[in-house]
This record gives sequence, C-alpha cells and structure tokens, in this order.
Amino acid sequence: MVAGNAVQTTSLGEEIVRRINLLGAISEEAGKLTRIYLSKELREAADLILGWMREAGMSAHLDAIGNVCGRYEGEGPGAPCLMLGSHYDTVRDAGKWDGPLGVITAIACVADLNRRGRRLPFAIEVVGFADEEGVRFASTLLGSRALAGTFDKSVLNTRDRDGVSMRDALITFGLDPDHIGAAARTRRELIAYLELHIEQGPVLETQNLPVGVVTAIAGATRLAARLTGMAGHAGTVPMALRRDALAGAAECIGAIEQFCRTDEGGLVGTVGYIQAKPGATNVIPGEVSFTIDMRAPIDMHRKRAVAEIVPQIEAIAERRQLVLQLDVTHENGTAPCAPWLKEQIAQAIGVEGFSVFELPSGAGHDGMAMIDIADVGMIFVRCRGGISHHPDEHVELADAEAGARVLLRVIENFRPWEGKSSPQVTG
Ligand code: GLV
Ligand code: MN
Ligand code: MN
Repeated sequence: MVAGNAVQTTSLGEEIVRRINLLGAISEEAGKLTRIYLSKELREAADLILGWMREAGMSAHLDAIGNVCGRYEGEGPGAPCLMLGSHYDTVRDAGKWDGPLGVITAIACVADLNRRGRRLPFAIEVVGFADEEGVRFASTLLGSRALAGTFDKSVLNTRDRDGVSMRDALITFGLDPDHIGAAARTRRELIAYLELHIEQGPVLETQNLPVGVVTAIAGATRLAARLTGMAGHAGTVPMALRRDALAGAAECIGAIEQFCRTDEGGLVGTVGYIQAKPGATNVIPGEVSFTIDMRAPIDMHRKRAVAEIVPQIEAIAERRQLVLQLDVTHENGTAPCAPWLKEQIAQAIGVEGFSVFELPSGAGHDGMAMIDIADVGMIFVRCRGGISHHPDEHVELADAEAGARVLLRVIENFRPWEGKSSPQVTG
C-alpha cells in the first residue's frame, strides 16, 4: 500500500503557520494566549494535535501525564525511534510559537514522509509535552520528566495559586495521578531526542540566519519564597512597628536584581510572580509569596550565585522580623547537545543552503529532562526582535519553512548511532 499520498497544496511553512494560529486561538483568557498545564484548554489543544498526528499517518495517544504522543513506524514495526518534540503548554499572555512550533513542525515533517510513502529504518515519534513552562505547579518540565522516568511524585501534592493540587487537577483532566509511571520510556526505545524551537533571543537575527545549531541548554534553579510578617491597619500602625512582608519582599527583589546586574558571568535572575496577602489597599501585607528564577551558562557559577543570594534574603528577613520559608522547586544542570547530533544538524543546514552557526540556549527546554534517557540535539529558528514569552513573539513564514526543511533533511539523512559512544546502550 502506498501510504497517505494525498497532494499537499500548501508549503510546509504555510501549513505550520496555519496550525500555529489554530493552536494559538485555544486559550483560557480572552484576547490573550494562556494555556497552562491541565487546563481544559490544554485538553482541547491535545485533541487537536492528536488529530493532526493521525492525519499525518501516526498512531497517537495521550499519555499518563498529558503528553500527546504520535508514532510513525519505520520499515519494520517496533523499531527504536528518533523522538522529535517540544511542548504545547504556554506561559501566561504568551506568544504562539514557543513550544508549538517544534510540535507542529515535527508533525509536518512526518506528514510529508507519509504523503511520499517514505518509511525509514527507524521509527519516528513526535511528542507534545504537556508542561514545560512550569507555570502552574512551580516545578517545571513535568511532561518530559514523566517521559524520562524522573518525575518526582512529591510534586503531586503541590498546589496552584487557586489551591488546586496537581493530584486533583490530573483527575479533573481525566488522568490517574497514581499511574504517571506509565508515561516513562526507556533509553533502549530511543535513538535520540531532537527538538526544534524558536530561539527566543536576538542572536540569529543579528547573524541574519534563519536557523542555528544549539550547543547546550543553560541550567536553572527556581525557588519559592514566602515571607510572613504581621498584617495590620494601614492607618494606625507606625512605620517603625510594622512587619510588612511586601516591603521585605521588595527589598529582597532589589537585592537579587543588584546581585545579578553586577555579576560578570552571564548570571540572570528573575522574580516573575508575587502574591501579597491579604491584598487590600488599607491593610499592611502580612504574607508574601514570590518566585526566583536564576540561570547562568556555567552550573558552578549559578550554584555559587544561589548560595550567595540566599543568605542575603535571610538577612533581610531577619532584620525585618519576617519568617522566611525558601524552597528550591526546580534545579537543572546545563544540558549539552550531543556532538554527533550537532554534526548531523549542521550538515542538514548546509545542504539547505544556509551558513552553519552554533549558539547556546539561555531558555530551558524539554531536552534538559530528556537527556536522562537520550542524546539531545536542538535546532533554533530565528524569531523577530528576539521577543519571546510575550504576545509579540513572531516567526516569519520563510523561517518556519527553513526550520521544517532542515528538520526534514535531518530525519531523512539521519544516521542512527553514528558517532554515538555505544549503539547498544540499555535502559
Ligand atoms: C521556559 O521557557 C524557560 O526557559 O523557563
Ligand atoms: Mn519553550
Ligand atoms: Mn517558554
């Protein structure tokens, strides 16, 4: 049988942009794109993607953590796979491209192979990870960690900002929290993990290049801080007698910014979320929660920075008589991309007629979790103005097309295990 030989009337890039817009319209906030983990909109998006996977000739299912998984068999059934993926959750008020570009492009490549009836000596799997952003439950990479078999079950008890536990959210989504282990895959099932993603920075644009080869994904530490003081009347408590948790948090945020600004090793620190309670104009804030995200290109540097900033936060809390609770919610070392995959990506870029340019990723990606069970390679696609995690995030159609062409070329020319230290690695 010649598999799915329907005629494609649009280019790969046009099809990708069309689907980016369809997925970008599935949002829990009117006029904004917000699709967080285990929301009903995430479920709607999952169903749409599963349909696209099936149309592309894949068998497809939702796994135990909410990842969408498609499989395109190789020349024979049951072969190890080249896994392609990215995520389909978003930050709040997001752009349309961060995550979905990689999922949609991978599906477009498989659809192209399927239209031509082309099977390869290996299977291709496409995964849309359900939580890469970590917006809802403080911890991040939940989808890829579950798939890599490194999901930390204690996260099930964490609660979102509305007090809903991850356990309950999974049940509402239609999944069984005690069954997450079923999402885990083993090293022997995967030949490699490849991800195409928008760059989310300005480097490729500066280089005037549509695509680049990622060298490594920078590590990150995330912390959750809670300062508890004493709520009180905004009109009656003299300034010297206050234990204002929000004023304390403000001082901590200033200290974090100052610390990172004066660093010379590429350290970046962000307080991206803050909540003050009880949250009224005329009440001194008694309790404040905020997050801290710290990243640096070198793991030791980031770890040292965290070790130095924590005592500063502790000292601020103590001086202001605030009780501090500080927990590390996420810790990921830098994930290097495998040389043999970088080489194959570079060759594909060259064959497509572009100059080969290597760059590191400052943003986190699912490859950080996937590296526990597979060698990882990444292709970056240029984005306009380096803007990301913002509704203005944009990829030109020609660049989406270039990314797809390169990914397709990598797949079709893929030499499994070439350069890999051991082809017989067992899970
Ligand atoms: C994900 O986009 C991250 O880098 O936090
Ligand atoms: Mn992303
Ligand atoms: Mn992101």
